[in-house]
Amino acid sequence: MQRICRTIKSAIFIVSAALIFAFFYFYAYHFPEEIYKSYFGEADSIITSLPIQQRSLNSSNTYDIGILLIVSEDADLTEYQFAINTLKCYSRLHHYGFYIEWVNNTWKEICGQKQFMFIRHCIASKLLHRHEWTLFLDADVAVINPSRLIDDFVEQNKDVADLVFFDRFFDWEIAAGSYLAKNSSYSKEFLIKFANTEFTLPKSFHGSDNGAIHWLFVEQFFGNNTSQLNSNDCHKIWSISKDFDDLFVYEACCRLIMGETRIFHDPSGKGTIKLLPKGEAWMRDGWITDSKWSLDSDFMLHGWKHSIEMPKIDDANAW
Ligand SMILES: *[C@@H]1O[C@H](CO)[C@@H](O)[C@H](O)[C@H]1NC(C)=O
Ligand SMILES: *[C@@H]1O[C@H](CO)[C@@H](O)[C@H](O)[C@H]1NC(C)=O
Ligand SMILES: *[C@@H]1O[C@H](CO)[C@@H](O)[C@H](O)[C@H]1NC(C)=O
Ligand SMILES: *[C@@H]1O[C@H](CO)[C@@H](O)[C@H](O)[C@H]1NC(C)=O
Ligand SMILES: *[C@@H]1O[C@H](CO)[C@@H](O)[C@H](O)[C@H]1NC(C)=O
Repeated sequence: MQRICRTIKSAIFIVSAALIFAFFYFYAYHFPEEIYKSYFGEADSIITSLPIQQRSLNSSNTYDIGILLIVSEDADLTEYQFAINTLKCYSRLHHYGFYIEWVNNTWKEICGQKQFMFIRHCIASKLLHRHEWTLFLDADVAVINPSRLIDDFVEQNKDVADLVFFDRFFDWEIAAGSYLAKNSSYSKEFLIKFANTEFTLPKSFHGSDNGAIHWLFVEQFFGNNTSQLNSNDCHKIWSISKDFDDLFVYEACCRLIMGETRIFHDPSGKGTIKLLPKGEAWMRDGWITDSKWSLDSDFMLHGWKHSIEMPKIDDANAW
């Protein structure tokens, strides 16, 4: 009996030792190698001399469009240089306007917001007059598929919306860092309201403009308490938020009020905002697919900062 016990014990010991060894072997060699290869090894596929057709300036679905980046006073553009170069090249190729605007003292006087994340929307509002449509972008957005045209997004939305926002992929968020805006008084007014949310932020982990845009939507379009949910409860969650988890709960709460609404009509009848569903906008976060992208569905990727270009193994958002 004792001998059988001992045999079983040693068998268990040998099997667990083998398992532990196999685990470490896999972990120490195979797994990092896969990661190493995916970043530094050979590409999965190389697309050579992709034919890029220049935008026709004559067709009926060609629009007057400009790309606008706004950077803070002390921004170090080397951090965004690669991304910015793709945008510059893209704009020159297709004859889009391209502007980088620095937040300076003149803008601070004109606009009045203190924080960069908010004043940028005021500045954008004041610069919409340059083009019929303006694509506002974060500075770390890069064009990876220059065959796609911004005109297609204008074409799809020009009759339904003054402003086009989109849903981010990885959570309930409406993206705050990019929108397509018509040169209309409603767009200008809405962006100023957006910038001014700086002055009504709760004293909590509020998520800056990305948190505030959800409350702005709820207030602007669902102010009459038509939902089963009381919007004040969402605000309560926001006002005591301590981290990203809380912030995302508040955002999900706001989204419950909005439901499946995609087109938001201002109650005053002055204008309309469209919110594109996940995956249907001009850009997305690059890290959600480990920088891999599709010729069919991708256009621009977000997150190309120089400082995270060369990833360490644990840098989930590197590119
Ligand atoms: C645009 O079309 C007009 C006539 O339709 C033509 O004369 C002109 O050369 C075209 N311009 C360009 C840049 O293709
Ligand atoms: C701020 O930038 C604007 C536009 O680029 C420019 O017209 C203005 O002179 C600048 N103001 C200062 C104080 O540099
Ligand atoms: C933008 O709108 C303003 C006010 O309506 C107008 O003066 C300006 O010419 C427009 N800009 C463009 C490029 O159409
Ligand atoms: C709420 O209802 C009032 C009165 O009917 C209306 O004037 C206002 O525009 C509505 N607000 C929203 C956000 O629907
Ligand atoms: C909104 O509706 C909820 C539930 O019906 C109610 O408890 C709450 O007091 C209402 N809030 C306002 C501002 O009317």
